[in-house]
Amino acid sequence: MAKLLIIYHSQTGNTEAMAKAVYEGASSAGATVTIKKAADATDDDLLGCDAVALGTPNYFSYMAGIVKDFFDRTLSVVRGKVDNKPYTAFSSAAGGGGQALDSIDRICNSFRLKKAFEGVIATGKPSSEVLEECKELGKKLAQL
Ligand SMILES: Cc1cc2nc3c(=O)[nH]c(=O)nc-3n(C[C@H](O)[C@H](O)[C@H](O)COP(=O)(O)O)c2cc1C
Repeated sequence: MAKLLIIYHSQTGNTEAMAKAVYEGASSAGATVTIKKAADATDDDLLGCDAVALGTPNYFSYMAGIVKDFFDRTLSVVRGKVDNKPYTAFSSAAGGGGQALDSIDRICNSFRLKKAFEGVIATGKPSSEVLEECKELGKKLAQL
């Protein structure tokens, strides 16, 4: 059974709603899913999962600092131990595009994680369609 990790940050609930939808989709596909706020996630979480979904609001056309902090804290421990582990990402922005996802892609490249699926972007509060996309993302990640 796939072990999926969801790491996210959210202040006003938009990215959190997306994270919960990813969780729902992955659970419905039979995965064992751990969902954590980025502030609480550790290197062990990343080492122990089969695939990871990363969620962030767009802050200043970048990922949230606390998501970056997760990467900063874990690189030295996990380097070389997570090569080709699949990841995907999701993001909420007020109106910006996918810059936060691009910033996650760049860092995941340094971690040598492998992008499994294109990320999902919500503008503000995620619509039911966006939440459906997030569920689908969770399902696909669980079925890898
Ligand atoms: C510090 C800060 C910086 C932000 N910068 C951007 C930005 O550059 N572009 C954008 O489209 N939205 C920006 N936003 C808006 C958030 O990305 C947006 O409200 C998002 O939906 C918040 O997600 P959350 O509800 O998960 O906290 C910013 C919000 C904050 C608090």
